Amino acid sequence: SAFFKPILNSDPPIPSNRCTKISVVGVGNVGMAIAQTILTQDLADEIALVDAKPDKLRGEMLDLQHAAAFLPRTRFTASVDYDVTAGSDLCIVTAGARQNPGESRLNLLQRNVALFRQIIPPLAKLSPDSILLIVSNPVDVLTYVAWKLSGFPVNRVLGSGTNLDSSRFRFLIADHLDVNAQDVQAFIVGEHGDSSVALWSSISVGGIPVLNFLEKQQIAYEKQTLEDIHQTVVGSAYEVIKLKGYTSWAIGYSVANLARTILRDQRKIHPVTVLARGFYGVEGGDVFLSLPALLGRNGVVSVTSVNMTDEEAEKLQKSAKTISEMQSQLGL
Ligand code: NAI
Ligand code: 2OP
Repeated sequence: SAFFKPILNSDPPIPSNRCTKISVVGVGNVGMAIAQTILTQDLADEIALVDAKPDKLRGEMLDLQHAAAFLPRTRFTASVDYDVTAGSDLCIVTAGARQNPGESRLNLLQRNVALFRQIIPPLAKLSPDSILLIVSNPVDVLTYVAWKLSGFPVNRVLGSGTNLDSSRFRFLIADHLDVNAQDVQAFIVGEHGDSSVALWSSISVGGIPVLNFLEKQQIAYEKQTLEDIHQTVVGSAYEVIKLKGYTSWAIGYSVANLARTILRDQRKIHPVTVLARGFYGVEGGDVFLSLPALLGRNGVVSVTSVNMTDEEAEKLQKSAKTISEMQSQLGL
């Protein structure tokens, strides 16, 4: 522009460097919570938004752009056409039906599989080297569907899974003990939802294994209290949906947290939906569910070994069976 003039005899402009691009498909409550958390945490140079509703799309894009003066510089594109997603490093899928109050996640399956048949092939074609991160529910089965429809190697397809349930779990334990949730290490694995499994045996606070500590000090711990905390986690989304109609903020932070680990190659362990066959006694079929996985720029680097009691492993295998039955009905 005439506004800026290069200093005399300067080099011609250098073509802009390769930038980090994230696409978010579905700009409802969840997609926008994720986009805005990614934006405020400066995780992308470009964010592409896709949805089936053009007015909603443009409205959401403009609303975020109008905050530009307070945020890191980020380029936005938005369209009903998947062309805007081309060359993404990370594609996050949040489009689809959500639960009505009292409805289970698994009940959404048929409706959302039909949408995934429209969404996944163009995403995969236009960003063949990207990582696919699935959020739409039921997230475990839909991650399997996305893997099948994309033809991507399995390390590049994952679901947000129980990263969110584990955050709820850590909050409740932290609240119970009156400590910072970031100092509580605790995993929920298995299905994101009703049959999830709490790994009590591997909980630690500030690096100190909790159950072991209580046992050594001969402090009686109430099994019922632990059970109640897990049941509260399982009921969390139902409660929030009953109260405000949907969940959004926690999943926004949960997914931005995963995006950071992946794109910045942080090699951190997150409980996320991965191909679980062969781990912790999960056998039979290509079942996808959440396990503690090491994540980095290549997606899922590996599945890590955590302590699991026989009872926990049994519950996990049961959770796997529930998901496997749903997957096998899809005929993919
Ligand atoms: P929402 O109804 O606010 O938004 C869904 C969006 O998807 C709408 O903007 C709609 O236009 C769009 N959409 C529908 N069909 C489409 C298509 N073919 N192509 C592109 N866009 C399309 O719903 P909300 O609250 O954002 O939830 C979205 C999904 O995320 C639901 O399946 C919900 O269950 C799931 N969810 C998953 C969580 C998790 O932990 N995995 C947490 C919270 C929600
Ligand atoms: C959640 O757990 C509804 O899956 C969604 O918030």
